[in-house]
Order: sequence, then C-alpha cells, then structure tokens
Amino acid sequence: MSSQKNDSFKTQLGLILAAAGSAIGLGNLWGFPYKAGENGGSVFIAIYLFFALAVGLPLMISEFIIGKHSSNNSSVRMFYKMPTNDETRPKKFAIIGILGTIASLLIATFYAVIAGWSIDYFLTGITQGYSQFAEGTEMSAAYFNALITDFGRSGIYAVTFILLAIVITFFGINDGIEKASKILMPALFIILIILLINGFMSGGFNETLDFLFTPRLTYLDGTDLNVGKTAIAAMSQAFFSLSLGLSAMITYASYMKKDTKVIGVSFKIVLFDTIVAFLAGFAVFPILFSLGGDPASGPGLVFISLTVSFATIPFGRILGIFTFLLLFIAALTSIVSMIETIVSAIIGGTKLPRKPTVIIVGVVIILGSILNQPALGIAIPFLQGLADNLIDQLDKLTMNFVIPIVTLLIAIFVGFRMKKELVFAEFRSYKVATLFYAYLRYVIPLLVFIVFISGILAL
Ligand code: PHE
Repeated sequence: MSSQKNDSFKTQLGLILAAAGSAIGLGNLWGFPYKAGENGGSVFIAIYLFFALAVGLPLMISEFIIGKHSSNNSSVRMFYKMPTNDETRPKKFAIIGILGTIASLLIATFYAVIAGWSIDYFLTGITQGYSQFAEGTEMSAAYFNALITDFGRSGIYAVTFILLAIVITFFGINDGIEKASKILMPALFIILIILLINGFMSGGFNETLDFLFTPRLTYLDGTDLNVGKTAIAAMSQAFFSLSLGLSAMITYASYMKKDTKVIGVSFKIVLFDTIVAFLAGFAVFPILFSLGGDPASGPGLVFISLTVSFATIPFGRILGIFTFLLLFIAALTSIVSMIETIVSAIIGGTKLPRKPTVIIVGVVIILGSILNQPALGIAIPFLQGLADNLIDQLDKLTMNFVIPIVTLLIAIFVGFRMKKELVFAEFRSYKVATLFYAYLRYVIPLLVFIVFISGILAL
C-alpha cells in the first residue's frame, strides 16, 4: 500500500464506534421520528426498515470493500487505481467520490445549524429548566422561531459546534476520531438507555406501538398516502442515516486495517444505526403521545413538541437536558465524519498537510453555516421547487438526488467493475458470495432506480 496511508484506526472496536458515530446522528434522532410522523408512520417505517437492512447492508459492505482496497484515503483519488476486472482504471467512477464529498460538505453546513440549536436547548435546560414551555406548543413554537431567526445566537452555537468538530479532526484518525468515539459513543448509548426506560414507563407506549407498526395507507389526518413520496423519503432517510452515498463510509474504510472482516463490521454498524433510529422513536413518541402531541409536526418535532412535555412530565428537566445532550453528541460524531471525508479528499488529492487542511475546511463550513442561518432568509432560486429555505433545499437535494444516484453507482461499480475476486474474498461460502453478487448487480440498482424515479415523479 502507498505511503500516504500512515494514519489508521488502531482497533476494530475503534473503527466500529467511529463508523457507528458517523451513522448515528441527527438523521436517527431528529430526522427519523419527524419524517415517520409526516409520512403517516407505519408504511414509511416498513420501507425504511427494508432499505436499511436489505439494501443498506449490501451497500455498506460495498463501500467497505471499496475503502479496503483503496491505495489513497481520498474517495475521489482512490478510483484512479482501484483493482478492476479488466485491469483498466475506473477513473470515471471518481464521480462517486466527487458527488459524495460535495454532498458531505453541503450537509455539514446545515447540519451544524440544527446541531447548534440543541446546544441552546441543552443550556436552557441547565440554566432555567423547561417550565417556561408549560403553556403549550404555541409558546414553545414561538421560542423555537425566535431562536432560529436570531442570527447571533443561532450563529454562535453553530460555529461553536463546528469548532469542536474541527478540534477532533485536527488530531487525525487514531488520536482524534478513534479516541473521541471511544468516549462519546458509550456516553451516547447510556443516555439513550435512560431515555428509553422513561419512554417505556410513560403513558404513550401503546400508542407509539400502534403508530409505528399498525399498517395504514393514510396520513395521520386520514388523507391518502402518496406512496412514491413516502418511498423516496424512507429510502433516502435510511441511506442518509447509514451515511451511505456520501463518501463517509468509504473514507473511514480506507483507514481500516487490511485484515478487517468487512461483512461483520458492516453488519454491526447497520444494526446499531437501525436500532438507534427505533429507540429514538420509542424515546420520543411516548412522551409526545402521553400529552396528546402531534407526531406530524415536522422538523420542529423534537425542539417544539418535546420541550412542552419536558415542562410537565416528572424529571422533565433532567430528561430534557439528556435528550439535547444526546442530540449534540450524536451530531458531533457525524459531522466529524463529514469533515474527515472532505479533509481526506483534499489531502489525498493535493498532499497538503492535515492541520491546515482541517482549518480551511472548517472555515468553509463555518461560512456555509452562516449562509444557512434562517435569519438571512437565503434560498437558491432554481431549487425553489424543492423547498423554500436553504436548509430544506440542501436537505432535499442531497436526499432525493445525490444519495440515490451515488448509491446506484456504488452498486454498479462493485457489481460490475471492481475485481470480482475481491468481493468474493469477503465471503466464506462461495454460494453466498454468488448470491450476494447477483443481488448487488441486478436487484439493488433496480430497487434504488425505481424508488428514485417514483420520487421524482411524486415531486
Ligand atoms: N448518518 C448521519 C445521520 O444520521 C448523517 C451523515 C451524513 C453522516 C453524511 C456522515 C455523512 O445523521
């Protein structure tokens, strides 16, 4: 292997925690519950589960196989030298890395803004508690809107969040990301378990079961479900949540030891991530239902609806503080992987040293996060059809277009171009390998393509 790859994950546990840290983020804790709520619940959940497990896992394995056989940590450059069936260089597939890295950058700019709000709610819990929200959703929504349109306050939190992430990436894979993950991820699991115990004990548990699992082809208000829309939302949410199609897993995989068992590691990450999404559902919805809250209340779900509950339920203050700390930690380990993806792409392509690269990338993300501040009211005119503010536009652009296209290309690359023996080498049984290979070549691209097109038609 080339000498550029001198930093690495020292232990398999470190790799798994860092990759799970990338996967588990706002996507699971903030996005999954509110999107499930907006899309009627059970059908969204069923499609989500299918795409996370039956499609996400093979794609995760594929991204890890790509990373494992890379000779460069840049998700763009690595395609210049990837071993292929016909020994020619698959340079065109560098588009996988280019699109994935750009998407990671765009996501980082709005991700930081949302994560920043969790800092505000965390600090509010510490300094005052949540009793001011007891009056109800109106009051809570007013607080939320005041926060997100307060350029200074929302801006400072986003920048603080990015700076913390920069500090971690500054120290590299082993000394920065691996070490931080070994502290932050166990903390995250402990907090989640505390919140879950509360979820099981609060009154809304049965309603949550019903909401998540009883089949129903309507939205919560009774109108017919738009299945195309729900399908693309659920599929992209599953891939986003697993950090697939965004170069993040390919990049982390390029730092792993060459004897890592790709299938076992991928399986654990997919499992953790999916479990956490559901645990988040069970931590959020019971609290909500026990007070008659609306699960379809959109992106403000966690911030607006839950805080009302924290004002009234027993131990609400401490539960609230934990919830927003959880959101913060999960988001931190995720944005770290986005930053690392961009940093590795630049280092691998230019040979710039890490530290200045991290600083440059950090500054760019800070500037991007400023543009995303709702107070500025910026929107991209030609994306007006997707959404009316920059955060939602970037979210829809990456979710509905970049992620489906890139995951499609990944399946095609590993299925058709990459040296077949390298894929088969990951399996102990030749039969299973043959099945996987056929599935990756013909079924996965078809599924992703169908949902992608149905999503575009439903726009
Ligand atoms: N998977 C992360 C989440 O669920 C988001 C993410 C996107 C992480 C892109 C890395 C790269 O929130």
